[in-house]
Order: sequence, then structure tokens, then C-alpha cells
Amino acid sequence: MGSIHIEAKVGDIAETILLPGDPLRAKHVADTFLEDAFCYNKVRGMLGFTGYYNGKRISIQGSGMGMGSTAIYVNELVSTYNVKNLVRVGTCGAIQTDLQVGQVILAMSASGDSGANTAHFNGMHYAATADFSLLQKAYEAGKRLGIDTLQGSIFSTDTFYDSNPHRWDIWEEHGILGVEMESQILFTLAKRLGAKALSVLTVSDNIRTGEAASSKDREQSFMDMMKIAFELA
Ligand code: HPA
Repeated sequence: MGSIHIEAKVGDIAETILLPGDPLRAKHVADTFLEDAFCYNKVRGMLGFTGYYNGKRISIQGSGMGMGSTAIYVNELVSTYNVKNLVRVGTCGAIQTDLQVGQVILAMSASGDSGANTAHFNGMHYAATADFSLLQKAYEAGKRLGIDTLQGSIFSTDTFYDSNPHRWDIWEEHGILGVEMESQILFTLAKRLGAKALSVLTVSDNIRTGEAASSKDREQSFMDMMKIAFELA
């Protein structure tokens, strides 16, 4: 049967899966983009769907917010359902002043502060890295579709709220583009389990300048991000 947090039958989930944090976003995307989609998971409301995009089979599954939740789904998707390509689709807060909201980022690597990542490496530092073949495909899809992408490093945090105003200074100095909460453990686990991973992100807000996307901008950049991600099916 299924795994602890996913009730799908083995075979119900495609080799390539998109992972938004929000399960209702997974439903919205399945309704908007996929043909013949069906819902394979409702456990804990973490909806998952499989359907076809341009004739290619693909799944989309909510991961929840944060690395703890994401790790559960990545483990079960790869170990029980033999998923091969995992692509996070989500937002990040930019920490470089020249980054605009709506910019699409292809994350090459993810630094971070999660105990889930350090616990496995005896205090040493694993460089969590995206899969190059997925990154290259996404980059070429962006070119083909006329959607600008920025390739670079991001930071995955366990703490959305923090009162230290200088928290991101050192990361900004080291070229980190933006902050989100899932990619580092996605990259680490995918590598450990023998799968490929990438994160395609849009900038939802700029932590430095205070700029935030309007709902119209958000929808446009969301569509750009999804079009690129679906080309990975
Ligand atoms: N912090 C963490 N995750 C985020 C942010 C942020 O500022 N913006 C979008 N995702």
C-alpha cells in the first residue's frame, strides 16, 4: 500500500513531481494546467495530483512549509513511489538590493541553518546542490519561453520570524540571492536517495528594500515559474 503520509498506490505518482509548499496551490495548478488529473493523496490535507502536461505524465504535491515537512514527503516519494525528479516551485525573499519581485531564480545550491541538514554530517558542512541536468533543462526552457531566469545560490531557514536586523548581512555578502524554507533538505535528501532535484523560485518580496509583489505580479511570475517547471516533465 502507501507510505505513512501518502495514501497513493505505487505507480500512481509520476517520475517527475513538482513540489509547491501549499497543497491548495497544487490543486489550483492541477486544475489549471493538467489534463486527466486525479487526486492521489488527501492525508493531512497535503493534496497530490497526477495528470498530463503536453502529453507528458507529471505529478504535483504539496510539501508543507519548512524542512521538517518537506523531508517527510521527499523521503516517501523517492523511497516508496520511486520518484526520480523532484522540483520545488515556490517563493523566496530576496536579500540582494538589486533583485526585483517577480524575478525567477533557478537555485544552484542552498546554504541553510537546519539541524535536519547538519545532524547527518557530524558538524561538518554539506554543500546542498541542485542536479545539473535539471538546472540546464530549466535554463534552456526559460530561454525558449522568453522568461528571464537568474541562476545562483539561496538560503533555506527553519525560522521565518527573526528579530535580528543584521541576520542576512553575511549571506548577502556571500552572494546569496534569496531566502526560503525547503530547498536545502530537498537537495540533500534527493542526493542521498539517488534522485534529482531542483528549485525554481520567484521573488515574492525583497527583505532589503521592503518591496513586495502585488497580487497581479505574483500571478504573472507564478505562471512564468510554472511554465518552466512543467518543461521538466
Ligand atoms: N523568509 C523565509 N521564507 C520566505 C521568505 C522569507 O522572507 N519570503 C518567501 N519565503
